[in-house]
Amino acid sequence: MERTFFAIKPDGVGRGLVGEVLQRLERKGLRLVGLKLMRVSPDLAQRHYEAHKEKPFFAGLVSFITSGPIVATVWEGRDAVSVVRALMGATDPAKSAPGTLRGDYGLSISSNLVHGSDGPEAAEREISLFFRPDELVGEARPEESWIYAGE
Ligand code: RTP
Ligand code: MG
Repeated sequence: MERTFFAIKPDGVGRGLVGEVLQRLERKGLRLVGLKLMRVSPDLAQRHYEAHKEKPFFAGLVSFITSGPIVATVWEGRDAVSVVRALMGATDPAKSAPGTLRGDYGLSISSNLVHGSDGPEAAEREISLFFRPDELVGEARPEESWIYAGE
């Protein structure tokens, strides 16, 4: 099973959408293995968004992600990275499909509600940036025999 890092950004926490967002991932069948409400330090923000450090929007990105509490999570499931990216929708919420998180809950590309790792290597890197190994709990959900039934 694959793991991915997923975060609800300060706009999602501030708008009171934590429960609804987590519910979408839970209902899909993914398993929550790590969860914390936290503030992101400027140092952690810069390391997390390292790949974007040359982009014109980098400073704004760091300032936004450090502007209020976030909910940092780790999820496990088959193809968890791509499944979570599909649930999130396109980066620009104005263009995200209805039914996706960004498509249903926003209009701003900078305040776009959620973050998800964009590949398995990024997932490993981001999980270890935000969580210690002993903060992750990997017990199976009882209904997983139904979620993956017949395979
Ligand atoms: P994320 O990393 O937050 O999950 O978003 P993403 O993969 O869909 O998008 P990415 O290309 O990694 O960009 C990271 C965040 O930077 C902001 N952004 N602004 N103004 C712009 O053109 C622009 N492009 C990206 C977005 O907030 C995006 O989530
Ligand atoms: Mg990204």
